[in-house]
Amino acid sequence: MNQMNCDISAVLFDEYKIQARVREIGDEISSEYMGRNPVFIGILKGAFTFMSDLIRAVSIPVSIDFMAVSSYGSGTVSTGIVKIRKDIDIDIKGRDVIIVEDIVDSGLSLDYIKKYLTQHEPSSVKTCVLLDKPDAHKIKVDFDYVGFYIGNEFVVGYGLDFNERYRNLPYIGILKEECYK
Ligand code: IMP
Ligand code: MG
Repeated sequence: MNQMNCDISAVLFDEYKIQARVREIGDEISSEYMGRNPVFIGILKGAFTFMSDLIRAVSIPVSIDFMAVSSYGSGTVSTGIVKIRKDIDIDIKGRDVIIVEDIVDSGLSLDYIKKYLTQHEPSSVKTCVLLDKPDAHKIKVDFDYVGFYIGNEFVVGYGLDFNERYRNLPYIGILKEECYK
C-alpha cells in the first residue's frame, strides 16, 4: 500500500494506461521521424519520467537534452513569469527538436520555451505533452502530440509534483484539495 495514496482523491491514469499511451506516441514519432535523428528536449523536473519512458518507446535513433524553467514557485497558480534555470547543452541548429513537457496549464511556459528554442535555428520544433488542461490555457497554443486531456484539477504523480512531493507515484491522480489549500 503506497503511503501517498491517502492524499489522492481519484486516480486518473494508472501505470498500464500511461504505458499504453506512451507506446502509441512512441510509434507515431518513430514513423513520422523515420530516417532522421530528432533531439528530445525534456523540461525538468516534471517531464523526466515521461521522457525516460517515451525515448524507450521510440525505435529510431534519438539524442536527448534537458531544460529547466520555473513558472510556478511552490504554489499551484501560474505566475506567467518564466525563467530559464538550466539551458540545453546540445547544439540544435539544423536539428529536429521535440520538446517533451509533463503538463500544460496556462500554456505560458511551453510557449516561451518553444520561442526560445526556435531562436537557435533548429530545422523543426514539435511539442509533445503528456497532459493538457485545455480549459486553463491563457494563450492560444496547440501541440503535436498529447497524451491525455484533463480538466482543471491539480494532478500529481508520474513525475508531477506538489512542493517536490508525489513525483514517484506510479500513476497520475488528483491531489486532495486539503493537501494544497
Ligand atoms: P503553464 O506555464 O501554466 O502551462 O505551467 C506548466 C507547468 O506548471 C507544468 O510544466 C508543471 O510543472 C506545472 N503544473 C501545471 N499544472 C500542474 C498540475 O496539475 N500538477 C503539477 N504541476 C502542474
Ligand atoms: Mg513542467
